[in-house]
Amino acid sequence: MQFLVSRYNPESDEAPHLQSLEIETWRGMMLRDALLEIKRQDESFAFRHSCGEGVCGSDAVNVNGSNRLACITAVADLKAPVTVRPLPGRPIVRDLVVDMSQFYAQYRAVTPWLVRKDPMPEQEIRQSPAERERLDGLYECILCGCCSTACPSFWWNPDKFHGPQALLTAWRFLADSRDQATEERLDALEGPYRLFRCHTIMNCVEVCPKGLNPTRAIGHIKQLMLGHAI
Ligand code: SF4
Ligand code: SF4
Ligand code: FES
Repeated sequence: MQFLVSRYNPESDEAPHLQSLEIETWRGMMLRDALLEIKRQDESFAFRHSCGEGVCGSDAVNVNGSNRLACITAVADLKAPVTVRPLPGRPIVRDLVVDMSQFYAQYRAVTPWLVRKDPMPEQEIRQSPAERERLDGLYECILCGCCSTACPSFWWNPDKFHGPQALLTAWRFLADSRDQATEERLDALEGPYRLFRCHTIMNCVEVCPKGLNPTRAIGHIKQLMLGHAI
């Protein structure tokens, strides 16, 4: 099967270019296996991966125009030639490896942990089953970045718009009955960029390998924000 992989070495290349390789495929082969095979053929080829199980989120790449995790993408489901590029809109470190600093900075900007003002109880902070259920579809995010790097608003303003991943996380804590920083969280999302730059294009929903819906989460925050402003 023919693969076209993006190659870029900042020390010697002016711009990224596609390298064509023929890889022998086998039943059950995943794209990560194909990338490992390419690495066997050419040691200088660089890409990130770790768990191989769709859990660590490190092997997100752009495959035939769509962001996906290489380890859970079956080669048999892809159309040849399979074009593999780095996640779009991020600075390229080398080949398929991009710099995700801005993505993590936006994640940190939404205070991605529980904030309590009351003294901590002796044991756990209790939640009803319904309160716990509100977190379904939010806590499962693996920080792969497929969504934010598919979001045009994030490409244009990565330093100002928080992007779908960070906003999903913001809602994950706003929706949590144990969190006591709602006002501060909403204040921190005020302004034309951080939250409201989302134009509901929904690329983020299409590409999320965990089936999460950042657009819906963003809608919930916008609603809460309206109540907050009144
Ligand atoms: S719905 Fe919003 S966050 Fe998602 S891709 Fe579109 S603009 Fe970006
Ligand atoms: S919301 Fe989905 S696509 Fe975005 S970082 Fe989390 S798991 Fe990845
Ligand atoms: S290698 Fe961890 S998600 Fe693919």
